[in-house]
Amino acid sequence: MAATPEAAVSETAVSETAVPHAAVSTDPAPSLAAPRREAAVVLENLGKRFGSGAPVLEDVNATIGQGEFVALLGASGCGKSTLLNIIAGLEEPSSGALEVPSDGAAFMFQDSALFPWISARGNVELALKLRGVGRAERRTRAMELLELVHLAEAADKRPHELSGGMRQRVSLARALAQDRPLLLMDEPFAALDAITRDLLHDELERIWKETGRTIVFVTHNVREAVRLGQRVLLLSSRPGRVVAQWEVSEEHRTNAGKAGELTGAITTRLREEIRRHA
Ligand SMILES: Nc1ncnc2c1ncn2[C@@H]1O[C@H](COP(=O)(O)OP(=O)(O)O)[C@@H](O)[C@H]1O
Ligand SMILES: [Mg+2]
Repeated sequence: MAATPEAAVSETAVSETAVPHAAVSTDPAPSLAAPRREAAVVLENLGKRFGSGAPVLEDVNATIGQGEFVALLGASGCGKSTLLNIIAGLEEPSSGALEVPSDGAAFMFQDSALFPWISARGNVELALKLRGVGRAERRTRAMELLELVHLAEAADKRPHELSGGMRQRVSLARALAQDRPLLLMDEPFAALDAITRDLLHDELERIWKETGRTIVFVTHNVREAVRLGQRVLLLSSRPGRVVAQWEVSEEHRTNAGKAGELTGAITTRLREEIRRHA
């Protein structure tokens, strides 16, 4: 296997004291330039510890732009879900500050967590009902969302009649039904086989482009992070903090060799992090 030419891949080391915006800014004259994309999520020196245990997260700094697709990568147990839960407002940070959209976030988990006794459409309709959407509109909107995830023909099937990939499509439709600008996804495809996962990557990319959502996608899979993210943030372990980030350019999308180089470089860095704490 060829060694990865480190220099060919631009990795931004994120120092502990980095200002969130500074790490990605290449703008020479910010005051004169067109307005930068507004931030959807800002994390400032975020920390989290459970009880009296060692900190799980410490000084996490990151800014996620509106409409951006960010892949949050890290080894198992490094605090990815904890960070996502904090962004979702399900968990309180122990220190630091965060800004999130006032209208909240939709969440999608590894386990589809659908109600087993109601149909795919019923599951999506329920999310709309919780938002106060009227009955007639619910039905129309649920079908539109199922069409968006290419599942309209299975609308009347119940979860046990669907494959794992189809269940995650319903789960995605349900998350979109919440109609929040921010979509948080916690390893949603981790339990799927590789072919189904590849298909869902294509679908998710299309849906992201069609809906303009801001997406934070958590994964421990480097290939998946590079496939989906416009930017990959690497979270270290014990304590978790953002230690590196990579921009995924159009070239990486269209040139498999370039994508492979980037995947190799990120994998090397991730292994370093894992080794450091082994
Ligand atoms: N509610 C909790 N109480 C105590 N420890 C927790 C809790 N949630 C997570 N942890 C611990 O925090 C660490 C990070 O967990 P998690 O965020 O689930 O990691 P990841 O999603 O990256 O695999 C783990 O050591 C886990 O045991
Ligand atoms: Mg997790």
